[in-house]
Amino acid sequence: MGQVWAGEGSSADAPAVPHRTTVRELNSSDAKRILVTAALPYANGPIHFGHLAGAYLPADLYVRYQRLMGRDVLFICGSDEHGVPITISAEKEGVEPKVIVDRYHEMNREAFAAFGISFDNYSRTSLPLHHRTAQEFFLDFYEKGILKEKTEAQLYCERDRMFLADRYVEGTCPICGNPDARGDQCEQCGSMLSPRELVDPRCKICGTRPIVRETKHWYFPLGEYQKRLEEYVQSKTDWKDNVRKYCEGWFREGLEDRAVTRDLRWGVKVPLKGYEDKVLYVWFEAVLGYISSTKEWAERTGSPDRWKEYWQDSLTKYVAFIGKDNVVFHCIVFPAMIMAKGGYVLPDNVPANEFLNLEGGKLSKSRDYAIYLKDYLAEYPPDLLRYALAVNLPEYRDTEFTWKDFQARVNNELADTLGNLVNRTMTFAHKHFGGAVPPLGPLNERDKELLRRIAQAPQSAGALFEAYRFKDAVVEAMSLARYVNKYFNDSEPWKTLKSDRARCATTIHLSLQAVRSLAVLLGPAIPVTARAMQGMVGAPADEANKWEAAGRLTIQDGMALGEAKILFTKVDDERIDRELEELGLGQRAAPDLPAKELVTIDDFDKIKLLTAKILAAERVPKSKKLVRLQIDLGTEKRQIVAGIAEKYVPEELVGRTIVVVANLQAARLMGLESRGMLLAANDGKGTLSLLSPGDDVPPGVPVK
Ligand code: 2FM
Ligand code: ZN
Repeated sequence: MGQVWAGEGSSADAPAVPHRTTVRELNSSDAKRILVTAALPYANGPIHFGHLAGAYLPADLYVRYQRLMGRDVLFICGSDEHGVPITISAEKEGVEPKVIVDRYHEMNREAFAAFGISFDNYSRTSLPLHHRTAQEFFLDFYEKGILKEKTEAQLYCERDRMFLADRYVEGTCPICGNPDARGDQCEQCGSMLSPRELVDPRCKICGTRPIVRETKHWYFPLGEYQKRLEEYVQSKTDWKDNVRKYCEGWFREGLEDRAVTRDLRWGVKVPLKGYEDKVLYVWFEAVLGYISSTKEWAERTGSPDRWKEYWQDSLTKYVAFIGKDNVVFHCIVFPAMIMAKGGYVLPDNVPANEFLNLEGGKLSKSRDYAIYLKDYLAEYPPDLLRYALAVNLPEYRDTEFTWKDFQARVNNELADTLGNLVNRTMTFAHKHFGGAVPPLGPLNERDKELLRRIAQAPQSAGALFEAYRFKDAVVEAMSLARYVNKYFNDSEPWKTLKSDRARCATTIHLSLQAVRSLAVLLGPAIPVTARAMQGMVGAPADEANKWEAAGRLTIQDGMALGEAKILFTKVDDERIDRELEELGLGQRAAPDLPAKELVTIDDFDKIKLLTAKILAAERVPKSKKLVRLQIDLGTEKRQIVAGIAEKYVPEELVGRTIVVVANLQAARLMGLESRGMLLAANDGKGTLSLLSPGDDVPPGVPVK
C-alpha cells in the first residue's frame, strides 16, 4: 500500500530533516485503487526487446490482470525527453533535441500501442504541464530550505565551451579499467560514477581533455533521509531480494548530497533568478513525470483533480515497474523526494527486472545490437512476442532471448498446444454439433478432474500475478491448456461420437468451457488471441471479462459458437535464419565452425579498434623486422612497434591512416614500449599488407 508522507511546514527555520508525521500501513485488501507506472523511456531511440522484458510487458501483464479483477487501476507512462542521452543523440545527427524527441516519442507511443501495452496515458516531459510540476517540487524544496547551494569543481570543455555533465564525459573506469566508461556510470562493471572519478577523461563531443572549473549547483541532501529510507525499504518485506540488496548496498555506502541542477540548455529551467542557464537534473524531474502524466490523464478525461486520488490518497497502492538500472532512482531518490514534499504516496513495490540478453550477447543500443519493437511488429503479430517474453522474463536473473526459443515457443506452445486445442474443439463442435455448445451430461472422473483444475486456475495464477511472478502465472495458464489437450485426447470424442453421443457432447462441452476459461487466464499475456477466443466461445457479456469467472462454467448448452479460426501461424526455419542474419549472426548457421571457436558479440566488443594516423616511422636499430611508429589516435599520441620492416619503407608510411587495437596491454619489444597493435593482412609467408580505411579518414574513428 502506498504510504502517504506528510512533509514539514514551509517555515524557513524548520528542521533540515523533515520528520514523518503520518505513516499508514494498510493491508492490500484495503487498497481502493492501484497506480501503476512504468519507467519513462528516453525518447532518443526506438523501444527494443530489452525495454519490453524489463518494465513494460510485466507492467502490462499486471495491469491487465488487475483490470480483470475489477480493480480501479491507472497505468501511467510517457517519454523522458530531457537529459544528456537526448542532447547527445541530437548532436550526433546535427539536429535540435526537439527533432529527436518528437520523432521517438511518436514512434514509441505507436509501437507500444501496437504491442498492446495498455497505458491509460502516455505523456512526455517536454510538456509545459510537466515543467510546471517539476519546478513546483524544486521550489517547494527550495522554500523549505531543504536544498543546499554549493560551489564545486567540475569538468569543463574549453573547445565546446560547456560543463561536461554526466554522459558528456567519457574515460577509463577507476574500478574495472573499462576505457569507455561514461561520466555517470560504467556499463561494464555497473558502478555509478561521477565525471571527476574517471581516469583520462575526454569530452564526448570533441574528444579533448577537459579542464576543471568551478560551478554552482543546488543539492538535495539525500543523506538526511537515509534513516527513513532504510525504515521504508525494511518495511517492504515483499520486495524482490535483488531490489532490497541493491538498496542496502547504497545504505552501507552512506547516502550523500546529490546535485539536482545541471549546466545544460535543454531541460526544465531552474526557476530561480541567477540560474537561467541551468536546468533541473533529468532524474530529478523525470520521476515527477509520473505525476504530470497523471495530471494530463485527469485533464484529458474531464476530471482535472482526479490525479490527486491516485497520488495523494493513502488508499492507493502504487507499483513502479522499472529495469534494474533504475533501482536507485525509484527506491531511494524518488522516495526521498516524496518524503521531502509530503502528501504523496510512496511506491508499495518496485518490481525491478534484471536484463534480457540477446543471442549470447548484451543488448546495446549504441552498438545497434538489439531487436526493435517496430521492426518486429512489421513482421509478426504482437501476441507471439508477448508470450515468448512473458515466459522468459528476467524476473530473478538475467535471461536470454534467442530466435530459436521464440520459434519453439510459438510453434510448440502457442500453435501446437493452445492453437490446436481451440481448433480441434471448435472444429468438432461445428462438424458434429451444429456449431452450438453441446449439452453437459453426467460427469466421469476425468471430467471432474478437469473441472477441479479449471476451478482452481484463477486462484493459483492470480496469486502469482499478485506476487509479481508473471512468468510463472503465464506458465501456469499454459499448463492448463496442455492439460485440456490431454483431456481431449484421453476422452477420445471421435470414438464416443459413435458409441456414446452424450459422453462425446460432455467432452466437447467441457473443452469449450476450458477454452473460455483460457481466454481469460491468458488474456493478460496474449490479449489479441484472447479476444479471438472469446469471439469463438463467447461468454455472456457480464461474465466475459472477469478473472474469477474463469473458474466457473459460464457458457450455456445450446449457445451458438463463433466461426472456428486458426489462431497462430508457425514460424519456419528460413525466417529464423533471416532474423539471425539481421543481427549479424548468420554464420551461426554455418556448420563448419565448432562452437568453441565462436566468440560472442561481447567478446568482440572488448577489442577497441580505432583509426590512427602515422606521424613518424623509423626502423628499430638492430632489428630486421621492427618499425617504431608514432601515431595519432585522435585523443592522444602513442608509440607502437610493429613487425613490418621487411615490407614497408618506414618514411613512406608517414601520413597513412591505419587501424590499431587501441586497448591492448602495453608490451616491450627490443626495449621499446609498444602501446597498441596495428592490423595487417599477414599470412606469415610474405603477404603483408596494412589495413587502411583510406588516408582521408581522420584518426580516432572506431572500426567495427
Ligand atoms: O533509463 C531510462 O530510460 C530513463 N529514461 C528512465 C526514467 S524513469 C523515470 F524517472 F521517469
Ligand atoms: Zn569537447
